[in-house]
Amino acid sequence: RDTRIPREKGLDNSLSLMQEGYLYIPNRCRRFQSNIFETRLLGQKAICMSGEEAAEIFYDNDRFKRKGAAPKRVQKTLFGMNGVQTMDGAAHHHRKQLFMSLMTEKRLRVLKDITAEQWQASINEWENQDKVVLLEEARQIMYRMGCKWAGVPVNEEQVEQHAGDLGAMIDAFGAVGPRYQRGRRARARMEQWAQQIIKDVRNGKYEPPEQTAAYEMAFHRELSNRRLSTQMAAVELLNIIRPIVAISWFITYGTMAMHNHPEVREKVKQGGESYRKWFVQEVRRFYPFGPFTGARVRRNFTWKGHAFKKGTLVLLDLYGTNHHPDIWEEPEQFRPERFRNWKESPFDFIPQGGGEYDMGHRCAGEWVTIEVMKTSLAFLTMIDYEVPPQDKSIDMARMPTLPKSRFVITNVASKR
Ligand code: HEM
Repeated sequence: RDTRIPREKGLDNSLSLMQEGYLYIPNRCRRFQSNIFETRLLGQKAICMSGEEAAEIFYDNDRFKRKGAAPKRVQKTLFGMNGVQTMDGAAHHHRKQLFMSLMTEKRLRVLKDITAEQWQASINEWENQDKVVLLEEARQIMYRMGCKWAGVPVNEEQVEQHAGDLGAMIDAFGAVGPRYQRGRRARARMEQWAQQIIKDVRNGKYEPPEQTAAYEMAFHRELSNRRLSTQMAAVELLNIIRPIVAISWFITYGTMAMHNHPEVREKVKQGGESYRKWFVQEVRRFYPFGPFTGARVRRNFTWKGHAFKKGTLVLLDLYGTNHHPDIWEEPEQFRPERFRNWKESPFDFIPQGGGEYDMGHRCAGEWVTIEVMKTSLAFLTMIDYEVPPQDKSIDMARMPTLPKSRFVITNVASKR
């Protein structure tokens, strides 16, 4: 047995994971003075790793695979069963191309216009409301925008329900009990809805343009030259619309950052592409959203003297890497300017995964996220509002977490 990996004692430490959430891996790395340790989670051995070198090895396709890594409960809520996240090798590469083909510069410009349009329309409404719960509103804006961008018709009567369901799917990923059940029911409903859209696109009832997710998912050919099953196409269509809704979490965090740091808000408002980009990066680095991601060892290998045995579950610490003291100076300070000198390593800043887009599992939606955040947060500097007393605390044990109040603003006035 390899004795060099520090080992956490206990038959199963899932309870500690539930109690410490985002800090479960970082706390143990600090305690063991090691970027790697072994533990037992969900009834099996697991290796947890953190930091830039760990990310580099984790994204080596030769050593790791995704098949069998994502727990069923995550697939039944967040991902959908057997989607792109669970694939490997040539089949993964081919499926990933389907996603990457949607991310052209032209399509990102369209996205930017739709984003601005949707914020403008909503902000006009807010002036007539007593209070705005930002996370809820941003979810609905993201839903409308995501559908429009994906070539999916928006039925105004369904917006609240659908945005709520997509939110519940995200909100369930680290949950047990009612919050998990809610996510499962939400996914079942949303897959029905998405299947109907795929059918309607295939039978010509809707004719979304090429390069939209609705079109491409409906007509994509697998390596076998067959179309995706209706169910699979629905899962992948939701793999576009759901994470767009997830951007509402970062928009809420970004608004909170601007509230906590008025000088930052001023700079975001003054514009300057570079500063806005640094700001968005710092929001994605600083605030907790994706805690970690998982893979399984593809074949036996040793790394830095540590034995990795085929089939072992390995978790890469996303949150902890973004706060790693070896990488970031004063990681617990919110400081957009730190990105001025960021060396753009694909492995040191990994809020949406690391490594490569095409061959690896790095998030296909990173540019979408950055563009939407930039446009949305700039909009939020162009209006006046008040932030009444509320519980804005972020519970690090909850996964995913969020400011408890979901960020309430009042007395919204646009300054035209
Ligand atoms: C994968 C985070 C937004 C589409 C991932 C992964 C993470 C992530 C952590 C997995 C990386 C890994 O396991 O190695 C986020 C966060 C987002 C976001 C925090 C912002 C709220 C988006 C958006 C889209 C998107 C807007 C699409 C428009 C995908 C897809 C994958 C993925 C398709 C699977 C990639 C693969 O398995 O090859 N994302 N994401 N994500 N994301 Fe995102």
